[in-house]
Amino acid sequence: MNSLSNGRLAQILDKLHQDAEAADRDYMTGIMADIEASGATLEQVIAEKLVEERADYRGIYRSRADNFLAVSSAYGGFLYAIARACRATRIVEFGTSMGISTIYLAAALRDNGGGHLIGTELESAKVARARANLDAAGLADLADIREGDALETLKDIGGDVDLLLIDGAFTLYLPVLKLLEPRLKPGAVVLGENAFDPGYLDYVRNPANHYVSQPLPVDEGRGNEFTVRTA
Ligand SMILES: C[S@@+](CC[C@H](N)C(=O)[O-])C[C@H]1O[C@@H](n2cnc3c(N)ncnc32)[C@H](O)[C@@H]1O
Repeated sequence: MNSLSNGRLAQILDKLHQDAEAADRDYMTGIMADIEASGATLEQVIAEKLVEERADYRGIYRSRADNFLAVSSAYGGFLYAIARACRATRIVEFGTSMGISTIYLAAALRDNGGGHLIGTELESAKVARARANLDAAGLADLADIREGDALETLKDIGGDVDLLLIDGAFTLYLPVLKLLEPRLKPGAVVLGENAFDPGYLDYVRNPANHYVSQPLPVDEGRGNEFTVRTA
């Protein structure tokens, strides 16, 4: 069973990736132009972004309410594969946006025989679009998309977690991980997409914190970190 090869779901995902590309083109081009004009390195740009986010992450994501900021189809395929490999039945996602990554993960739950995904998103318009996209994909029954700040909405997730995708405000990766840490099963997979915060990387790469972790060579430069809970 591989729902991703199902014509209808593949078409829906293709269309969503096209929509994402169109919606984010100007934003992405602007970022690249700014980097070029400033002569800053990628590391410097990211460090600046972390400072800006620390001051007002809600404001920053409000200004990007129309942007998808979604995972690539290559990373989506990886999400599906890893959720199948660990036979996940309980998944949490921080940063749902329009639900592209959620569809890959929920498709894996369906093919694993069922399960539950809790997603969370700050922007109400994005929550509505994510729910509609999941509905169109026939996966809405597997996903509970919670509107609000992950630091509140993920306080009670009602059970243990096989797989956690962290893909929200860059500066909240460590607080969200620590919030959910008591719920991670031994062997749980934690995927950080855009995991650039040095505090987060130092934490998951320190075996004393009961993780093994390494960069993931998918979409290199996007800060993909692959982490497994060891206890
Ligand atoms: C990179 S996008 C997520 C993309 C999505 N995972 C996908 O691949 O389709 C990050 C999203 O996280 C949301 N976000 C940022 N901080 C958040 C927070 N504290 N709580 C909930 N959502 C948050 C943003 O509004 C944004 O839509």
